[in-house]
Amino acid sequence: MNEQTLVITIDGPAGAGKGTIACRLADKLGWHMLDSGAIYRVAALAALRQHLDLQDETTLAAMIPTLQIEFKQGEAWLDGVIVTGEIRNETCASATSQIAALPAVRAALLEVQRHFQQAPGLVADGRDMGTVVFPEASHKFYLTASAEIRAERRLKQLSEQGLSAKLCDLIQDINARDERDANRPVAPLKPADDAVLIDTSSLDQDEVFAAVLHHIA
Ligand code: DC
Repeated sequence: MNEQTLVITIDGPAGAGKGTIACRLADKLGWHMLDSGAIYRVAALAALRQHLDLQDETTLAAMIPTLQIEFKQGEAWLDGVIVTGEIRNETCASATSQIAALPAVRAALLEVQRHFQQAPGLVADGRDMGTVVFPEASHKFYLTASAEIRAERRLKQLSEQGLSAKLCDLIQDINARDERDANRPVAPLKPADDAVLIDTSSLDQDEVFAAVLHHIA
């Protein structure tokens, strides 16, 4: 890790469009990209595979330094095996949100995430990149969108995968998750004091990207 290396953080709730913007920005700058949600997901998958108790904070935290978590060739790897598909399934998503609420797990993952701070620079996407993991970042963004718009985006994603859902159920889920994320005692989802807030509800991806570039310039 090189602490002099510049970092740009992009935080916000699921469905605000952070992932796409972070990838585009990393591509444009030729920087590394950290998808911190994927790190939490890989750790949760390892816990599931080892049949660990998802409430057992001490054992989970002790497991983390033993894992080899990598992102290369467009894939997520756990201990040398591709897990890109598996970390996206519902079982893993639910396990991820459970372990992400545990302070010792978050503390153990801090170092894992900070190792991605490599030259020439890092774009970090997550929930607490600007507040906790990289508080010294040179630019911080917090992307958000209304629950309705995020639910519509999720519905579109699901239908592209051939899955169906009711918009009203998705809105309800998103509101419940926002409430939980914003009120959890450890690393609650909130903008850093020095973050630029962008509401993406009525913007397309190009407009959001242009707004981000404008602030960086
Ligand atoms: O962004 P995502 O859906 O891949 O995130 C997966 C889970 O990890 C989700 O429950 C939020 C959590 N997470 C977190 O608590 N902190 C982060 N920096 C990134 C993700």
